[in-house]
Amino acid sequence: MTVPALRLDDLSKTFPLGRSLFGGERMGVRAVHPVTLDVAKGETLGIVGESGCGKSTLARMLVGLLAPTTGTIEIEGEALDNADPAIFGKRIQYVFQDPISSLNPRKTIRQIMSAPLKLLHGMDKTARAARISEIFETVSLREDFLDRYPHEFSGGQAQRIGIARALAAEARILILDEPVSALDVSVQAQVLNLLADLKARLDLTYLFISHDLAVVEAVSDRIAVLYFGSVVELGRAEDIFASPRHPYTKLLADSAPVVGRPLTAPEGNDTDLPDPLNPPSGCAFRARCPYATELCADEVPRLTERGGRHVVACHHPLSD
Ligand SMILES: Nc1ncnc2c1ncn2[C@@H]1O[C@H](COP(=O)(O)OP(=O)(O)OP(=O)(O)O)[C@@H](O)[C@H]1O
Ligand SMILES: [Mg+2]
Repeated sequence: MTVPALRLDDLSKTFPLGRSLFGGERMGVRAVHPVTLDVAKGETLGIVGESGCGKSTLARMLVGLLAPTTGTIEIEGEALDNADPAIFGKRIQYVFQDPISSLNPRKTIRQIMSAPLKLLHGMDKTARAARISEIFETVSLREDFLDRYPHEFSGGQAQRIGIARALAAEARILILDEPVSALDVSVQAQVLNLLADLKARLDLTYLFISHDLAVVEAVSDRIAVLYFGSVVELGRAEDIFASPRHPYTKLLADSAPVVGRPLTAPEGNDTDLPDPLNPPSGCAFRARCPYATELCADEVPRLTERGGRHVVACHHPLSD
């Protein structure tokens, strides 16, 4: 068996909320329930889900910005040490949603690009200059950009710089957290093309987070659907929305304008996520689910293989 590029084992995050007002039990928000999954080398794994379902929390754990509450992260078979962010930085990098505000406004692009080279690789000035030239050429950015400040760039240019910064550290796994959501549609296409081109040329592995089903379906090999902090369905990109097994995936597919598929409105379904401070028993989706039964209130459904193509966490999965 080949070793996956990235393996998450039982990875979860609970944000502590301190003590309750009357000194009761310590409360917490469970933003990510234990997630176990592999991402193969060269694969693009899409992660979709509504706002607040835990996408960024998951992503931030993967790059060492947040310490997991439980679980481990392995890169090419080696467990990452949470105590050393530099080790994360060399192997896995984050590309942020809002490209301009993710770049320090007081630093020139050269300074921004130099930081990971200095901190992670201890490169001297000459080596840094050479590496920055090389990376700028790879992502088709002009070198005269280097002495400018972030606010002087358009969103698309800033996102190219964000991608260049992530690549400078020589990480081979990129966590792309809504990398094109803040951009105009025409610029989105350019950045997506750049990402596809870089992936092929540099042998990269992507985790691509988005709430845009059309984008995620177009770029991903497999897609994980996240609901209220849990993976509820995981399958191949070409059939997860075309033949969803989980009623939530179906709801997403029905309510989103996916290219090449007619738009149908979801029927009388309120779109509120459950309250994280007062999570429901059993299946978190049951209040919105037309197929919910008593079993769904009693028992959390486990991810189980269905029809050989998807894994689904549902007591009453849909068939074709
Ligand atoms: N630092 C924090 N402290 C407490 N709760 C947090 C913190 N960060 C996130 N949360 C909570 O964790 C849950 C998941 O948030 P997260 O930002 O991961 O969602 P998301 O899927 O990225 O949403 P969006 O699509 O809006 O970016 C939410 O309920 C959020 O309020
Ligand atoms: Mg987010």
